[in-house]
Parts: sequence; structure tokens; C-alpha cells
Amino acid sequence: MSWHASVVTLFPEMFPGPLGQSLAGRALRDGRWSIDAFDLRSFATDKHRTVDDTPFGGGAGMVMRPDVVDAALAAAIAAGQASDRGAPPGAERESAAPRLRPALYLSPRGRVLDQAMVRDLVAGPGVVLLCGRYEGVDQRVIEARGLTEVSIGDYVLSGGEPAAMVLLDACVRLLPGVMGAAESGEEESFSNGLLEYPHYTRPAEWQGRAVPPVLLSGHHAEVARWRQAEAERITRERRPDLWARHIETAGQGRVPSA
Ligand code: ADE
Repeated sequence: MSWHASVVTLFPEMFPGPLGQSLAGRALRDGRWSIDAFDLRSFATDKHRTVDDTPFGGGAGMVMRPDVVDAALAAAIAAGQASDRGAPPGAERESAAPRLRPALYLSPRGRVLDQAMVRDLVAGPGVVLLCGRYEGVDQRVIEARGLTEVSIGDYVLSGGEPAAMVLLDACVRLLPGVMGAAESGEEESFSNGLLEYPHYTRPAEWQGRAVPPVLLSGHHAEVARWRQAEAERITRERRPDLWARHIETAGQGRVPSA
């Protein structure tokens, strides 16, 4: 069974889009993940294929209808389950009890996506993603379907589609076999709660700027110490929020060097 994403959207032609390129695109062609896009408009029931209406209580903009969104989500959830049944026996990555795909609604009101959430999603069988447009989605379908609202940051996009792509890209690269050893995510930003240390390659001097000498020394332990100290310094300077969390959790283990 491959990790499966079902995306509900008014713009199904946007997918896989950039996810069909580069690392995610190769993984898609290799069958390490799969994606289906569901056209919300095809779940409309009237002859004008209406998906939205004016908000009760007045105000600007349009709200996506709960009945149309619900029908599209039902199809998206069923498609994910069908993709599981097509899997060979024993192909389930999670042991005895298979996990359900979480249904997420991309929205600036949601919990802000972080690497811990990404890791959790990757450990499951995939995701169902609802991309909103207009002023949003009728609150009742969010509640009825138990949708988890997820934001990709404190800014407003014109729709959830780019946010869905961001979430999927972050997930797909962590799937087994997607990143080679060279691209391994073990030392990257957030993997240990810190931002990553700086990188250098040839030439050893460029425009009068030298590479930090310790990196040319061949002393692996010193290099590791320097990288750890730089990761801590950069995190402290740029992200006091991450640094504070790092300090809190360091009590149980290694003591930060700064
Ligand atoms: N839709 C609009 N803005 C968004 C955001 N910041 N995150 C997720 N979905 C969105």
C-alpha cells in the first residue's frame, strides 16, 4: 500500500502540479505515494453546479455549501479506502490496527503545521485534504466530518491548494525510500528541534571569505561540536520560541552548550 492523498478542490487540474517534479515527482512515479484530486463542482446537484452561496447573517464573500463538500469528502474518503484494498496482503505499513486517513481542512484558522505533525501524518496511511476558497466552508460540515483545520502559516492565501501542496511536499519527502542517504533528513532543521548549521563547499576561499577552518581540519568530533554550537546559536538568534522549547526538553538529556 502506498501513502495516499485524496484532495478535494475546485481546481483539480492544479494537482499534482509541482509535486509531479523533482523528489516528489520521482516518488510518485516510483509508486511510493499516490494522489487523487476530486472536483468539488462535480458533486453539485443543481443544474448550475452551484458549490457556494451567500453567508447567513450577511457580509461579503461566499461560503462553500456543506452538502456539496460532504459528498465530495465521502468520495475522497472512499477512494482512499479502495486504494488500501487494492494493496497486496501484508502491505499495510502500520501493524495490526490500520489507521484511518485524517481529513484535514487547509485554513488559516488551523493549527500551524510543523515537522512533528508532518512526521505523524507520514506514519499513517495518507491524508484527505479539503481545499477551501471564498470566505470558507460552512461550519457544519467541518464539525460533522470532524475535519482538523491546518494552517501553513500566519498569512492568508487565496485558496487552500498551495497549502495542500506544501503539506504534501513536507510529507512525501519523509516517506521510506524517497530521500536517498545523501539527502537524509536526520540532520536537517527541526529534526532535533534546532535550525540547521551553515554549509560550505569548494572553493575554500571565495570573494575573500574563508570556510571556517575547523571544517577543513579533518577532526570529526570537533566538526560535530562546531555544527552543534552553530545550530544552537542560529536557533537562539533567529527563533527564540524554538530555543525556549529546546532548553525545556534538554533537561532530560544533553545540556545545550550555550
Ligand atoms: N488557506 C488560506 N490561507 C491558508 C493558510 N495560511 N494555511 C492553510 N490554508 C490556507
